[in-house]
Amino acid sequence: MICIILVAGHGTILENEIKEDSSGRYCSLEGIPKALLPGVGGRKILDYWWDAINTRQHFKEVYLVTNADKYKHYERWATARDFPVDNIINDGTTTFNGRLGSVGDLDLVLRNKHIQDDILVVAGDMLFQDHKFDITQVIHYFRRKEGELAIYYDMEPTENITSRGIVEVCPQTNRITQFLEKPSKTETQSRQASVVFYCFQRETLSSIPTFLQNNPDVKQRTFGEYMQWLINETQHEVYGMKLPTGFQLIGQVGLADYEKWLLFFSDKQTDQRCMVPYTAKAYARIGLMGNPSDGFHGKTISVSIKNFWAEVTIIESPKLILVPHPLNDPTEFGSLGDLHGISRKEGYLGGLRLLQATCKKFYQYCSEQGIALPKRNFKLKYDTNIPRQVGLAGSSAIVAATLRCLMHFFDLNNSDLPKPLQPQFILDVEIDELFISAGLQDRVIQVYHGAVYMDFSQTIMERQGHGIYEYIDQDLIPGLWLAYIRNPSDSGKIHHDVRERWIAGDKDVHEAMKTFANLTDLARSALQIGNHSELLKLMNSNFDLRRVIYGDAVIGAENLRMIQLARQYGSSAKFSGSGGAVIGLCLDTDKLAELKSAFQTEGFVVCDVIPNPPITDNNGSAAR
Ligand SMILES: *[C@@H]1O[C@H](CO)[C@@H](O)[C@H](O)[C@H]1NC(C)=O
Ligand SMILES: *[C@@H]1O[C@H](CO)[C@@H](O)[C@H](O)[C@H]1NC(C)=O
Ligand SMILES: *[C@@H]1O[C@H](CO)[C@@H](O)[C@H](O)[C@H]1NC(C)=O
Ligand SMILES: *[C@@H]1O[C@H](CO)[C@@H](O)[C@H](O)[C@H]1NC(C)=O
Ligand SMILES: *[C@@H]1O[C@H](CO)[C@@H](O)[C@H](O)[C@H]1NC(C)=O
Repeated sequence: MICIILVAGHGTILENEIKEDSSGRYCSLEGIPKALLPGVGGRKILDYWWDAINTRQHFKEVYLVTNADKYKHYERWATARDFPVDNIINDGTTTFNGRLGSVGDLDLVLRNKHIQDDILVVAGDMLFQDHKFDITQVIHYFRRKEGELAIYYDMEPTENITSRGIVEVCPQTNRITQFLEKPSKTETQSRQASVVFYCFQRETLSSIPTFLQNNPDVKQRTFGEYMQWLINETQHEVYGMKLPTGFQLIGQVGLADYEKWLLFFSDKQTDQRCMVPYTAKAYARIGLMGNPSDGFHGKTISVSIKNFWAEVTIIESPKLILVPHPLNDPTEFGSLGDLHGISRKEGYLGGLRLLQATCKKFYQYCSEQGIALPKRNFKLKYDTNIPRQVGLAGSSAIVAATLRCLMHFFDLNNSDLPKPLQPQFILDVEIDELFISAGLQDRVIQVYHGAVYMDFSQTIMERQGHGIYEYIDQDLIPGLWLAYIRNPSDSGKIHHDVRERWIAGDKDVHEAMKTFANLTDLARSALQIGNHSELLKLMNSNFDLRRVIYGDAVIGAENLRMIQLARQYGSSAKFSGSGGAVIGLCLDTDKLAELKSAFQTEGFVVCDVIPNPPITDNNGSAAR
């Protein structure tokens, strides 16, 4: 790819006003071209562009097109900034009226340097917010799309659409459907302004001579007119990518504009959002009723619980740092024997890999969706008190909390990654990156919190790309207890073949999955009318069915013991997840106290479930 920076504009009005300014503040800037004026922070406007472009080896060559009037200034700049002087092209013009127009300047460099390659073109005299985009992402997005790419931004309320090229963009495909050069207020609702910042496919470059032939008047030789022509006359596919910064000082502007926008961007430069630490919590969950969570479609009711949580904290940092957790990602040990003991018991899989995998997938998602991320680094650290290996969804909690941190840090909201699709994102991190086999339900409850009825029926999933998720009023959930094995270990777990049987179409497994779904509907009705003895029965049926399908060897002796113990005290009991922890409903308070004591005597950990209310979105309303 070749990069072409256009700085051949004659900034006549600004230059004259600087010359005539009587305050004395600008006397050192007399005669300096717009691109070499100080930007935010005092460095030259062109320096910021050169930094953005020169960071990676994306470009075979970078060319700069200037006019004869200002050529010397750019030659000096190039020497100071290690820019190859041979790559500066002089368009020979000395006045605004004698200009070639920006498309004319592009044509000049294409012919002069015999360019036959994809190109990126920018106007190097536009002011923008530093670090607000990453050129790598722009180029990756261009490579994904079979068409041209136009950069646009959301206009500030004070800006006037009648002074810009306005684009209308299809929200699904990001394809530009209309390009309107300096439209009137009535022509469009859009406030998305396109700037001279484009990527063109090499095949498209041959259309430029045709365009110039059709438009002999230099007033028409602007990129606005060219893009409008490409889209309307030649039916080229042009895609849009929105950058999280505005661009200013476009075309003929005066000193007042220069002062105003310099101040505006200086004020924006410190983004408080990122300077203060932000912490996101995701909670453990219990499966109150329904299908096992391995993606068998079906229905479930899950409840988010406050007892256990994972939290992740993000803050801006010069380098991107993932902080290892002292307990879960140990890197220092008392001795070799100590290392052996810890590794044998806990394995090698701490939480750090979850942070890393989530960051990777997040970048990938944004690149695919054309969501431009500011070039800004962060530090991520995590903590968790969710017991390991007992099926309380500890790993996905860390992924869910990391996702919320990243969305906050990069100022993304549910329009960028719709809430019903966030569970799938979390699951994809675990399946694609970490090879964890799992289903959606834990991730749904960790995105929504509260108590949620979920329907994963195949037809629904295929139609809308996600299940039906409906809150159940939290006040309807009766008091539950939770018990778990104190020292679970992975090595004791026996592999089961239920998933294989399900895929193979095993009749018993499929019938069981339908029954689980039916139990869920019955449980929802029981909750709604407050019939807790019915709920108790249904919970027991739920476990009994699981036992039949999975078999006692897979269920495991310790798990079975917890279930039996609970039932001795008249309580219901079922797995909270895939084993290691059980939940139950005991309607008799005296019996409940005896039950807890019996569990403790046998070495299990037992506690009361504390339900966690539905998550509130930024606007304060309960999420849907
Ligand atoms: C926008 O620009 C048009 C044409 O230049 C002008 O007539 C109009 O008053 C401007 N509107 C605002 C709000 O500045
Ligand atoms: C471009 O084409 C669309 C429909 O194809 C039309 O609605 C629109 O007015 C045209 N725009 C211009 C500026 O010609
Ligand atoms: C997301 O933010 C954009 C602007 O930043 C806003 O227009 C949109 O309404 C927001 N969407 C949601 C779902 O909050
Ligand atoms: C589930 O419920 C439906 C409707 O109530 C019923 O027709 C079906 O037989 C039930 N299936 C099972 C497996 O219990
Ligand atoms: C509640 O459920 C129990 C047990 O299933 C049943 O016997 C009873 O009739 C139900 N009560 C009501 C009011 O529906």
